[in-house]
Amino acid sequence: MKIAILPGDGIGPEIVEQAVKVLNVLGESFEMETAPVGGAGYEASGHPLPEATLKLALEADAVLFGAVGDWKYDTLDRPLRPEQAILGLRKNLKLFANLRPAIMYPELAGASTLKPEVVSGLDILIIRELTGDIYFGQPRGVRECPDGPFKGEREGFDTMRYAESEIRRIAHVAFQAAQKRGKRLTSVDKANVLETFQFWKEIVTDVHKEYPDVALDHMYVDNAAMQLVRAPKKFDVIVTGNMFGDILSDQASMLTGSIGMLPSASLDANNKGLYEPSHGSAPDIAGKGVANPLATILSAAMMLRYSLNKAEQADRIENAVKKVLAQGLRTPDIYEAGTTKVGTTEMGQAVVSALS
Ligand code: IPM
Ligand code: MG
Repeated sequence: MKIAILPGDGIGPEIVEQAVKVLNVLGESFEMETAPVGGAGYEASGHPLPEATLKLALEADAVLFGAVGDWKYDTLDRPLRPEQAILGLRKNLKLFANLRPAIMYPELAGASTLKPEVVSGLDILIIRELTGDIYFGQPRGVRECPDGPFKGEREGFDTMRYAESEIRRIAHVAFQAAQKRGKRLTSVDKANVLETFQFWKEIVTDVHKEYPDVALDHMYVDNAAMQLVRAPKKFDVIVTGNMFGDILSDQASMLTGSIGMLPSASLDANNKGLYEPSHGSAPDIAGKGVANPLATILSAAMMLRYSLNKAEQADRIENAVKKVLAQGLRTPDIYEAGTTKVGTTEMGQAVVSALS
């Protein structure tokens, strides 16, 4: 089995190094090949998603991704910015289903900005559609406004759209995920205002007929944002479009107190996937050895479970992470008085030790 390792920028390389260490002690024979992506891809070959990197990702059985982005690339033209690498991978690998779990580890209950009783035991899964919506809709651009009250002025515009088959396939992923969990699915839309999401609601409701054992409810995105901080434990699985999912998944991640703990999976129709921490490249702490590698290590566990068919190995890693938390080891982002502060490498090493 071949894994493409794409460390990227900022803290990407240091956290991915720890996840690779963990993969290496499992006793499996993975073939791993590393390639530059994001700003690192731009430095290496003038493009954030170099051709050789894309080829490697297409050939591999799974992709382990760090993070991309750095302020120093903010002035580049949009097609050359690091973020285009992740968008290009999603599009080329047809990774339409983004799974973002938000789990509150009991040891970290104090790290949340919300009251412990609101978030303790939180375990929700956000499923974000990842290759449609306003992110990829055409046309888009900046033009001279052709008519109406702003005629003649410059205007920026994007297109929100979903084809029926795109909604159906993400709805199936969501209903099936709900079946394996608490059997409750909330579809988040803005059907009161947007045609796209009126249609979304209609199709999700239709797909529901095939999953009578799952309870479905619909919620407007503004209300969902409110309920996520009011009573997040009422949710089980949330399914939504690309744009709303981008926002709600960041919000949900902070309920748990640390975005440094949360993995994510982006899957195609055959469960091939790209696995990355939910957080970004954090250029402010890059190279300081203080980044939390656990989200990346847990992403490697998701990769074993969803793409490589190694569920027991995934369990082993997840248990090892729980063990190091129980031992009181904390990187600075999750540190509290009375625990032991460790750096990136020490945390990775602790997970390796807990595994053996
Ligand atoms: C994410 C990120 C990306 C997105 C950016 C980096 C393009 O915010 O994965 O949530 O908007 O999808
Ligand atoms: Mg985001």
